[in-house]
Amino acid sequence: DGAAAVLGLESSCDETAAAVVRAGDGAVLAEAVLGQEKEHAPFGGVVPEIAARAHLEHLPRLAERVLREAGLVPADLAGVAATSGPGLIGGLVVGASVGKGIALANGLPFVAVNHLEAHALTATLPGIASPPVAFPYLLLLLSGGHCQCVAVEGVGRYRRLGTTLDDAVGEAFDKSAKLLGLPWPGGPALERLASRGEPGRVPLPRPLLGRPGCDFSWSGLKTAVAQAVARLPGASPEGAKADIAAAFQAAVAEVLADRAAHALAMLPAATALVIAGGVAANAAVRGALSGVAAERGLPLVAPPPRLCTDNAVMVAWAGAQRLRLGLSDPLGHAPRPRWPL
Ligand code: KG4
Ligand code: ZN
Repeated sequence: DGAAAVLGLESSCDETAAAVVRAGDGAVLAEAVLGQEKEHAPFGGVVPEIAARAHLEHLPRLAERVLREAGLVPADLAGVAATSGPGLIGGLVVGASVGKGIALANGLPFVAVNHLEAHALTATLPGIASPPVAFPYLLLLLSGGHCQCVAVEGVGRYRRLGTTLDDAVGEAFDKSAKLLGLPWPGGPALERLASRGEPGRVPLPRPLLGRPGCDFSWSGLKTAVAQAVARLPGASPEGAKADIAAAFQAAVAEVLADRAAHALAMLPAATALVIAGGVAANAAVRGALSGVAAERGLPLVAPPPRLCTDNAVMVAWAGAQRLRLGLSDPLGHAPRPRWPL
């Protein structure tokens, strides 16, 4: 029943991804993700121009590939969904243009998907939580570009309860990892190093802990990591760096738990605490947040890592939900580098 399938395209940062998802039940018929780690690693971060060129090189054939693997031709689709913001404008233009091209050539509706909405609705994909997660729920979006508490009250109904005053939490991981001499992207490397350290040996601040609301601030913690690294003796044992990594991770986990508790108090009707974004892959973070959820008798819903990080399944699924509500966008829709939920 290809007529009920949606093609999703993602190219807002450094993942090029395409997926075909059945609209009715969210079954993933085909998906592909191509990272750009090798392209950006020499620069220690994502270079927008390089990212856009890589998306342009890879996205069209990735779209063809997932359609072939799903056993569909474009004309079979119910619609085409492409991330159209927020993100790096070069990549967004590539994804939206490829999506509009396929839609135009085949007379299909086009859906301009908000990347944050795609992360937000991932938890409603069948199979992620049993029983399925119901509205309203609290979303903690913890990625390299975003750090927000969002009340998800329905498709298209989002309320931002809190956000970061400076860096995203993934950025804090990446910057601290760099200070510790770890390669980019630093989050996973820092988690590995932290597993060999002792969190109690290095005192680090807990920014905004206990404050009202659920905003975040990470730059002071990063500065404290820089100072701890600077205090290390020249030939410090590897264990000393592991202690800093462990202390950093413990501080982040404690602050996230505190902020999540405040956010849940702001949304008493929440049926679940949902986490998304690359940092949601961190075991210490998951552990701290599952404690907060359990205290309120709520489930912690953490999609599998491949659906927490950037992917096109979530874009196709968000597109399917919007199409179901009769929502689509004109081909003249302009991608938006800044696009709050
Ligand atoms: O969601 P994502 O793949 O991309 C966007 O930023 O949209 O998130 C990437 C971020 C990076 O900052 C990366 O260092 C962080 O997630 N990250 C982690 C872990 N895995 C990825 N941070 C801490 N622990 C991890 N295991
Ligand atoms: Zn993302």
